[in-house]
Amino acid sequence: MKLIATILASIALSLVVIACNKTVSPANSAAPVAGAPSQPTDELAAARALFKKNCEGCHGPTGEGGPTQVDGKEIRVPSLHDERVARHTDEKFTKVIKEGDGPMPPFADKLKAEEIAALVKFVRKEFQGK
Ligand code: HEC
Repeated sequence: MKLIATILASIALSLVVIACNKTVSPANSAAPVAGAPSQPTDELAAARALFKKNCEGCHGPTGEGGPTQVDGKEIRVPSLHDERVARHTDEKFTKVIKEGDGPMPPFADKLKAEEIAALVKFVRKEFQGK
């Protein structure tokens, strides 16, 4: 009886360990950083992670863009700091991100509406100082 209890206890313990390991691993989720203030900062942090994953390959970490290779072809990516781009409305940005534009692929199937809205805010704040 005592042996069974010991075995059960060790099984329970290993399940806890496995469950703990699982919750630690996902690096791609937008887990809030410990100690960070809530809301706007979190939203921007989440958008920053989305940008890194989906956009940085073409637009670069600083949004400067420039020439880049896509499917073996060189494309020119405009700087998101550019005044001409900054003059475009949020609606235009949202449309471009959702539907794509020339060499830029559409993200409507990949990103949720809230994520696209957060990316528009992120681009404004991070690259256009708005
Ligand atoms: C395959 C490369 C590529 C990827 C990936 C990409 N873009 Fe673009 N993006 C471009 C190019 C090229 C343009 C210019 C399109 C044009 O004007 O023909 C552009 C234009 C833009 C513009 C400017 C629209 C305007 O008003 O002129 C914004 C904002 C933008 N991208 C945001 C994003 C965001 C946010 C992501 C990630 C979700 C992203 N892009 C991913 C290539 C890319």
